[in-house]
Formats: sequence, C-alpha cells, structure tokens
Amino acid sequence: MRVLVTGGAGFIGRWVVKRLLDDENQVWVLDDLSNGSKENLKEFRNNPNLDVKIGDIKDAGILSKIFNNKFDICIHLAASIIVQESIDNPRKTFENDVIGTFNVLEEARKHNTKFVFMSTCMVYDKASMGGGISETHPTKAASPYAGAKLAGENMTQSYYHAYGLPTVIIRPFNTYGPCQKSTGEGGVISIFIQKELNGDVLNIYGDGTQTRDLMYVEDCAEFVVEVAYSNKANGEILNAGLGEDITINELAGIICMDKKRIRNIKHIHPQSEIPKLLCDYSKTRKLMGWEPKTSLKEGINKTREWMKKSAGK
Ligand SMILES: NC(=O)c1ccc[n+]([C@@H]2O[C@H](COP(=O)([O-])OP(=O)(O)OC[C@H]3O[C@@H](n4cnc5c(N)ncnc54)[C@H](O)[C@@H]3O)[C@@H](O)[C@H]2O)c1
Repeated sequence: MRVLVTGGAGFIGRWVVKRLLDDENQVWVLDDLSNGSKENLKEFRNNPNLDVKIGDIKDAGILSKIFNNKFDICIHLAASIIVQESIDNPRKTFENDVIGTFNVLEEARKHNTKFVFMSTCMVYDKASMGGGISETHPTKAASPYAGAKLAGENMTQSYYHAYGLPTVIIRPFNTYGPCQKSTGEGGVISIFIQKELNGDVLNIYGDGTQTRDLMYVEDCAEFVVEVAYSNKANGEILNAGLGEDITINELAGIICMDKKRIRNIKHIHPQSEIPKLLCDYSKTRKLMGWEPKTSLKEGINKTREWMKKSAGK
C-alpha cells in the first residue's frame, strides 16, 4: 500500500515507518523536524520504498502536493507533544495539533484516504481505583495538549459521519523505548535511565504516587499499523497500553537502585497531572486481536541497552 506518515521522523514515527517498510509498503514521511530528526530514519535511507519530505502540516500547499501521490492510508502522528509547552504556549499547540490536523484531514477527504488520528491517553480523566480506562471513560481537557487532541478527535469523527471518510482514532498510553529523547517530559523512562547512567539525581514531580501505564514502542507501532490496515477499526476509538500501571516512585526505584539519587520535587503543573492512568485495551484485543508483547522489565532493558550503545557512538 501507499502510506503517508506525518511526523514520521519522530520517536513513534520511526517505529511505525520501520514496521510499514518491513511489510513492504511504499512509505512517505512528512515532518518539519521540529522535534524529530533525519537520524531516526538513517537506517532506512537506502530503502527505495521510503520518501522523506521536510515540510510543515500547517502549509496547505505542501500537503496538497504530497497528496498527489494517491495514498491508501494517512497515519497522522505530527503534533506538538509536550504538556508543559502547551501550557506555556497554547497557540503553537493549537496551530499544529488542530489547524495542522484540519489541513491533513481536508486532503484525506479530497482523495478518500483512510485517516488514522493519533490521539493520546492524556485526553482521559483519571482512572478510578481498581479499574482500567476503557474508551467510554470520561474525557477531560486538563491541558491545551489534551484539548487540542480532543478537538482533533472531534474533527476526525465529523469526517467519518459527514463524508463517510474511513477514519480511526487511537489513544495509546505513555509510550517509551529506543529513539525517544531523554529531554522534555514525554519520556519518563528515557529521562530516568539517562540520569541513572550519568550518575545524576532522578527528579520526580510531586509525591510520585501518580501512576502511568507504559507501553513499549514496538507494541505501539504494531497497534498503529494494524488499525491502519484493518477496515474493522473504521469509525472506532481504540486504546492500547500495557494494561498495568506503576507509580513514578516505583518506576524510579526499578531504574535506579541508589535511593539517595531519587528526589521528589515540586510539580511544575499539578493542575494538569492525571493521578492514575491504567489502560483497559479489551476492545482493541477483541476487535483487532492486538495485545502488547513486551513486559515493562524487558522494555526498560532494551531501552537502557540502546541508550548505552548510542552514548558510546
Ligand atoms: N510518546 C508518547 O508517549 C505518546 C503517547 C500517546 C500518543 N502520542 C502521540 O503520538 C504522536 C507521536 O509522538 P512522539 O512521542 O513520537 O513525538 P515526536 O515529537 O517524537 O513526534 C512528532 C513528530 O511530528 C513532527 N512535527 C511536529 N509538528 C509538525 C508540523 N507542524 N509539521 C510537520 N511535522 C511536525 C515533529 O518534528 C516530530 O518528528 C503524537 O501525535 C503524540 O501526541 C505519543
């Protein structure tokens, strides 16, 4: 198939592109490199099935040109992803994640291209004690990032209902693994491993009792690609995660054995923190047969090995 991946030079994008190329699709990437890099796609630079275009999804002209390639699928990953940045600069987040998404959707509509919208677990209100979060769980726009993703979801659904465009909305839980940056708040595991390897202190925002459901990136990429291929997913909202949550205090303790190097500091945005995130992916399992394959321990080890290797380069 002919597949466009916006944001394909980013962390998750790199793994989605890998999976699509492994499956022998023809893949185009559109990325402005604002948070991604060509380095992420270096491994595939000689692959004749990959075409990388540097460009901005806010530029309707660039989008119109690239969509002349007649894609079967558009996987829309490009977004401003940092919660704190969205609080500091909501304009940037809304322009990229709402207007940018609208531009991509419009092209998908013109060409009747299946549209996969990458939302996030950050749109959910906190999980109740005991139970996981299914797709019917209440949403809460706790930050401009979450607000922008909910807007993107609504736009995507409106194109499904009004135009019959094949679309799917996916809400992966926090994703980690090789190629994730160890700066910024997106990658708690990468940040903690980097600090541990450098002999630095691991800072935890707030009391550290907030929980996260952490999914290894190859499991995430498999989920993204499977829903893109499948017509069964059209019109649906689908979760993916590990199905287990862990407190940030426990996570820090697994990554760094030296308790003296773990410190709780004042939260930078307590108002946008979600105290408990635990994924219920039973709908995705039932519909798609998808399940995560990588345990947290195994995923942390793979990430640590990759970080050690790339530091030695
Ligand atoms: N990392 C996670 O834990 C996680 C979890 C759930 C959902 N997501 C979503 O998955 C997607 C990918 O996230 P990621 O962690 O790989 O982040 P990332 O920042 O590594 O990837 C996003 C990519 O989009 C590109 N981009 C940003 N604005 C653009 C624009 N205007 N035009 C073109 N390209 C642009 C960036 O350069 C980057 O390469 C995002 O939509 C994010 O919201 C991420």
